[in-house]
Amino acid sequence: MNKDSIIGVIGAGAMGSGIAQVAAMAGHNVVLFDTNAAALDKAKASLTTTLNKLAEKGKIADASVVLARFQFATELQAFADCGLVIEAIIENLDIKKKVFADVEAVVSESCVLATNTSSLSVTSIAAACKKADRVIGLHFFNPAPLMALVEVIPAVQTDAALVSTCKELMAAWGKAPVITKDTPGFIVNRVARPFYGEAIRIYEEGIADIPTIDWAMTEIAGFRMGPFTLTDYIGHDVNYVVTETVFQSFFYDPRYKPSFSQKRLLEAGWLGRKTGRGFYNYAEGIAQPEPTKDTTLGNKIAERIIAMLINEAVEALHLNIASAKDLELAMTKGVNYPKGLLQWCDEWTAEKCLSILDGLYNDYHEDRYRASVLLRRMAADNKKFLS
Ligand SMILES: NC(=O)c1ccc[n+]([C@@H]2O[C@H](COP(=O)([O-])OP(=O)(O)OC[C@H]3O[C@@H](n4cnc5c(N)ncnc54)[C@H](O)[C@@H]3O)[C@@H](O)[C@H]2O)c1
Repeated sequence: MNKDSIIGVIGAGAMGSGIAQVAAMAGHNVVLFDTNAAALDKAKASLTTTLNKLAEKGKIADASVVLARFQFATELQAFADCGLVIEAIIENLDIKKKVFADVEAVVSESCVLATNTSSLSVTSIAAACKKADRVIGLHFFNPAPLMALVEVIPAVQTDAALVSTCKELMAAWGKAPVITKDTPGFIVNRVARPFYGEAIRIYEEGIADIPTIDWAMTEIAGFRMGPFTLTDYIGHDVNYVVTETVFQSFFYDPRYKPSFSQKRLLEAGWLGRKTGRGFYNYAEGIAQPEPTKDTTLGNKIAERIIAMLINEAVEALHLNIASAKDLELAMTKGVNYPKGLLQWCDEWTAEKCLSILDGLYNDYHEDRYRASVLLRRMAADNKKFLS
């Protein structure tokens, strides 16, 4: 694969059109395919608007040059000359498997097939292909043109050489690629779970109210958005479903257990900002509730959630899900954390982090709060993760 390779993208929705834009701006000719002609028209119109705006701001020289690189297609045959095809259709394993088998029938022997799945096993998608070693996960973040992170996920069957080829290509597209094992949630959607789950747990127990927890996580911990503001923004239909999928995929590990509060929001159709109501009420004229700016309480909330996040990152390192460097990159570039979680642990010391987790474990006697054995070892040896 190189700059001359034609890039195919399946699905012209939010992710597909964003990925297509990234590839075209990196100089590739792009075939954007969708079974729904209306979705293609919408993508074409929004790409035109976006590229024109970028040209006005001087971020690209000429929008028409980039637009001329696009071919919009409703027939799979259009992928015949592609060097790489990235799939970004509906998150459904059976439908994705069928699409991969169909695409494989029209592309060349050397064409690489990638999936942008957030939560499905890349290995099971690859299993739908005759030449499964050409299949890999390339997980972009939303919006793809703005978010630097791309998780590169080799399936069990993937040719090892393809991992570095894809990593180089993503870097050439201006992205920050990280390599992760094909396990549920990959890096970001796994490690970030306590940001939402533990915050909701603190709220459910009545330790603090929603605005106070959001205040603690922004003003004290330094995150850009608090967990409730963020999940309202993401949408509970998306965020809750990811939590539930991760929980089920981890054979019901209590660390990832979803909450009833969020499930009820989903059932009520209170999906967050997009429906005008979620944890907060966005109706016009409604004043948002004020936090209790109690610094002692705020520190307690922030420490509990950060300790849980650090524990996830340490356990992911322990299980070789990704390298320490990639874990740090993933959380800072994929979800804009104020710093990497291993760095956070080093600054706190593993001993402090362990004592928060062991305190929670002793209090609750729940497996949810079990500390990673690696954290325990680092604390015992007084060691740091990053040198
Ligand atoms: N939205 C996100 O934040 C996000 C982030 C990362 C990854 N993802 C993943 O990206 C994928 C796409 O998500 P999205 O948010 O862009 O969805 P979307 O609903 O915006 O777009 C999906 C598009 O795929 C098309 N499509 C559906 N079935 C098809 C088929 N069989 N053949 C061709 N086109 C088909 C639809 O017409 C639609 O245009 C999913 O796997 C999702 O998990 C989403």
